[in-house]
Amino acid sequence: MCGIVGYIGNRDVVDVLLKGLTNLEYRGYDSSGIALNDEGNIKIFKALGKLGNLKGLLKEQEKNIIDPVAGIGHIRWATHGSPTEDNAHPHTCNCGKLVLVHNGIIENFKDLREELIKKGCIFKSQTDTETIAHLVAQEYDAVKDLKKAVTKAVKRLNGAYAICVMYKDEPDKIVVARKNAPLLIGIGQNEHFIASDIPAVIEYTSQVVYLDDMEVGVVKKDEFHVYDVEGNEVNKKIEKLPFEPVALSKRGYKHFMLKEIHEQPDVIRNVLNGKLYDIDEKIILNEVKIDKETLKNLQRIEIIACGTSLHAAMVGKYLIEDFCGIAVDVEASSEYIYRKTVTNEHTLVIGVSQSGETADTITAIKQAKKKGAHVLIITNRPDSAMAREADSLIPINAGIEVSVAATKSFTAQLMSFYMLAMFLAEIKGSVPKDILKELKHDIIQLPTLIDEILTHKEPIQRCARLFANTKDFIYIARGINLATAYEGALKLKEISYINATGYPAGELKHGPIAMLDESMPVLSILMEGKVYEKILSNSEEAKARNARLIALTSSQDKTLDDLFEVVLRIPKVNELLSPVLASVPLQLLAYYIAEFLGKDVDQPRNLAKSVTVE
Ligand code: F6R
Repeated sequence: MCGIVGYIGNRDVVDVLLKGLTNLEYRGYDSSGIALNDEGNIKIFKALGKLGNLKGLLKEQEKNIIDPVAGIGHIRWATHGSPTEDNAHPHTCNCGKLVLVHNGIIENFKDLREELIKKGCIFKSQTDTETIAHLVAQEYDAVKDLKKAVTKAVKRLNGAYAICVMYKDEPDKIVVARKNAPLLIGIGQNEHFIASDIPAVIEYTSQVVYLDDMEVGVVKKDEFHVYDVEGNEVNKKIEKLPFEPVALSKRGYKHFMLKEIHEQPDVIRNVLNGKLYDIDEKIILNEVKIDKETLKNLQRIEIIACGTSLHAAMVGKYLIEDFCGIAVDVEASSEYIYRKTVTNEHTLVIGVSQSGETADTITAIKQAKKKGAHVLIITNRPDSAMAREADSLIPINAGIEVSVAATKSFTAQLMSFYMLAMFLAEIKGSVPKDILKELKHDIIQLPTLIDEILTHKEPIQRCARLFANTKDFIYIARGINLATAYEGALKLKEISYINATGYPAGELKHGPIAMLDESMPVLSILMEGKVYEKILSNSEEAKARNARLIALTSSQDKTLDDLFEVVLRIPKVNELLSPVLASVPLQLLAYYIAEFLGKDVDQPRNLAKSVTVE
């Protein structure tokens, strides 16, 4: 959702801004724009739709861009006001000397806007962002100093913001500020970069400084300084980026999603690295900063997350309850934050998030912290806002995930839950050693088994072609794979826009069965284990209503080929580990259907990679 870039230095400013925005494209957006401080003039260029439109406009306008010294850019995912050129950033003030880009939402913008209109400000957009531009400009008129003006203005803002501001008469600097929205300064030789996320700067530098809430930065070509809102300089730590530039290449795959699906064996190895050395040794999870006695007596865990991360959390609940007998509640963050939860200092609250920036989950964990709970964060972004709130932090080390549809991060989250559940079980002594030993042995095989699935994709491709024109889909499962069904259905609807729903197989006859006929395929996740026979019976019930059946199974039973129109077989594995394997063909099925339908696989419509608004 929305992305910010800024640059001050000797490179081609337009080029740096456009490359930065291109590398943030995956976050989802519907308009874009840049502003340049060019030979003493502020020049703004905006376009609706994809970045190609902005690039085209800048090509046309090439002769009007002389020698910019600094610039700021933005991709916007509409929240306040529809996607239009007027609503696209950068925004400016009455005199046009100030330009500003913004990520986040200003909650008190209506009051501020009214106040500013009374003072003579003329608004050209419906955005909350334009309010900040006018507000800073008003302050500037009084203090004639951009840093002071920004500092005064941000004190009046409620909500979330990461802003980047330029002023015509102060061309040597870009002023930045943040609260509840990420912003970093990339450090180069006689040049500085600004970005809301790493991919925008990764090509140029590996050294960054992360701004904290209520800080204001003054970024110049050869220096930068960060201050608190009282004007005191803050000593910032320079950090090394956790990713390499190669993370942003498709490495020969048609889409990032396909590349990321193929990275899963390595992602699993990364998660295991340092945690599971040998089947005879205990799981090492030094990231959990709770003493053993407390963990032994833990009675209650709450896991909060959204979307795909919520599905990983459901598997986590199953594992922790099964291995440790600790009661676990799983809840969507957006629900958790609007009710009276029974959370206290005896609760362990686990927040799960690929991005670490999901607004609902951040709010939820802040609420849990206020109630005294220990907050453990499982995230792919140890540099994120959520990670900063953590009492314990488990990074999942999946590498940058560019495709909006989460795949490898889901697998890494699952693996992190296996590690956590076994770690807790070993502390509590709640699972016999030989069972854990066997499980560890099987876990170590998972990367090879996924490789096997990835080298035999043809049956999945054929299935995708066969069902690509279906309007609806039902995925059924039971037990630990119920979350797999939810996740498989979510993947399909996200990237192909087919109406797909996951159901507990036993629930089929309590309502959904009414929808079944030859136009409604039912995909059964049939892993050998406790609930295999039950799901088979539920599939028979669907067949009796003329539904077309697909099986995703670990079974070699040939009679399945009589019942099901398509049987997708995966290697046999311990039922408890089967979500890791079963998710892969479902990701591929969604991928091939979307690709077959010609959809924008990596950037599906209406979706954003990081959902930074509640
Ligand atoms: C699904 C997907 C979303 C995210 C959800 C939570 O493919 O990407 O459903 O899982 O928006 O995001 P994070 O995990 O970043 O908190």
